[in-house]
Amino acid sequence: MNIILLGPPGAGKGTQAKILVDAYGVVQLSTGDMLRAARTSGTEMGKQVAAVMDRGDLVTDEIVIGLIAEQLDAGAADKGVIFDGFPRTLAQADALDQLLRSRGTGLHAVIEMKVDDAALVRRITGRFTCANCGAVYHDETKPTAKAGVCDACGHTEFTRRADDNEEALRTRLMNYYRDTAPLIGYYYAKKQLRSIDGLGEIDEVKARISDIVQGLA
Ligand code: AP5
Ligand code: ZN
Repeated sequence: MNIILLGPPGAGKGTQAKILVDAYGVVQLSTGDMLRAARTSGTEMGKQVAAVMDRGDLVTDEIVIGLIAEQLDAGAADKGVIFDGFPRTLAQADALDQLLRSRGTGLHAVIEMKVDDAALVRRITGRFTCANCGAVYHDETKPTAKAGVCDACGHTEFTRRADDNEEALRTRLMNYYRDTAPLIGYYYAKKQLRSIDGLGEIDEVKARISDIVQGLA
């Protein structure tokens, strides 16, 4: 089962991808997480992309396609993949098609998560992340059960992403509508697009996605 979660920044792609991983034992491939990991570990590529990411611009197709190809070869292709934040351009979508085809598999669905800009701003500006395990929370909609303690690992330090500010978010949204939204038409034409309302409680969105995924089995 290979599924793309497609949606603007803050649509809930990462949150729902983790739920699907727990439910179906598939692998989440988030290019954003991979790029942030490269930055943290101080690789050349990590240094190269840091300023671009902080501004909210897209890194090159070549870099992200390379990251995805590596992970598919490392075993992800055998387990099934939830693509989160990839593809983001038509060139990336074409590359993914070829990467999957050359490994004897393909896409089973592209789930578009529709969320209006006002809700995206609320979600992005309230997001915080466990500094140890990366679990994602929100000041209002998903606080930790015990204030200041990560539910997943018990750690007590949290971070906020450098690109989760109003100016970078404006750039991220502009890039989404210009470069990524054309993928909606691309996958619609291939009859792979399924669109859901991404507003509502996390569990409500989860149920909408589950309906689609169960229909694939
Ligand atoms: P990336 O990390 O992919 O960021 P993004 O697409 O902007 O998406 P987010 O992670 O911000 O949002 P999300 O949809 O995962 O939402 P989440 O579940 O966290 O990319 C970052 C950067 O890396 C890019 O700007 C670019 O520079 C680079 N990059 C990455 N991939 C690339 C590519 N393919 N090509 C080129 N460059 C690339 O939820 C957000 C918040 O809302 C959380 O706090 C969560 O708790 C809360 N929330 C979630 N669901 C709900 C709900 N239903 N109700 C209320 N709150 C909710
Ligand atoms: Zn944690």
